Amino acid sequence: MTLRQHKKFKNFYTVTHPLLQHKLSTLRDVKTVTKEFKELVSELTMLLAYEATKDLPMTKARVTTPLETFDAPVLAGRKPVIVPILRAGLGMVEGLLALMPGARVGHIGLFRDEDTLEPQSYYFKIPPNSQERQFYVCDPMLATGGSAVAAVDQLKSEGIRKIAFLCIIAAPEGMEKFCTAHPDVQVYCAGLDRKLNEHGYILPGLGDAGDRIFGTK
Ligand code: PRP
Ligand code: URA
Repeated sequence: MTLRQHKKFKNFYTVTHPLLQHKLSTLRDVKTVTKEFKELVSELTMLLAYEATKDLPMTKARVTTPLETFDAPVLAGRKPVIVPILRAGLGMVEGLLALMPGARVGHIGLFRDEDTLEPQSYYFKIPPNSQERQFYVCDPMLATGGSAVAAVDQLKSEGIRKIAFLCIIAAPEGMEKFCTAHPDVQVYCAGLDRKLNEHGYILPGLGDAGDRIFGTK
């Protein structure tokens, strides 16, 4: 089993697979350059998404192989929706689409005020009439938890109920805030780190995810 459920927060899962953990350590390394960083974020997201999608509903469809026709298992229901939190979440979209090429993509624009660390909303767009769809919200970093909580609040206020959250690194502070606010939303992360520093950065972390994905520093 490569999925570890948190003892206190039952909706919080860490994916412990050795390949994923090795990639995460390379991602953290200050020497990892933008191109490799982006590729690793995609690969890590695919491995997280593999676990996060394990309960998608299934049905049967007639499939004819070169030898015979049978009822084969296929995904049921409406296409899921991937929702990156701008901007760093964009780096995770490709990895999710690799596993779910038919998925829709919404966008939630939030940034942290550098002084208050409070999330500021600047964009919100999801497909209409999506209340029945499964949503996958993604952001590499769950730090104070303010951005992720606000993103899920916005989706819930639109009537969305089936939501999972994927992140690469979480701080204990963000896990607690998110899991307390949204105990019905399953969280899948690659690394639960030690703590936040005085500027709200995760330790040991990986630095500023958006800047490392887009090469803006
Ligand atoms: C980063 C990160 C999260 C947020 C996490 O985004 O990508 O969205 O901080 O912090 P929180 O859990 O304390 O809210 P940032 O605000 O730096 O914006 P960016 O992605 O546009 O760089
Ligand atoms: N956002 C980041 O990109 N990194 C952190 O460590 C915390 C918030």
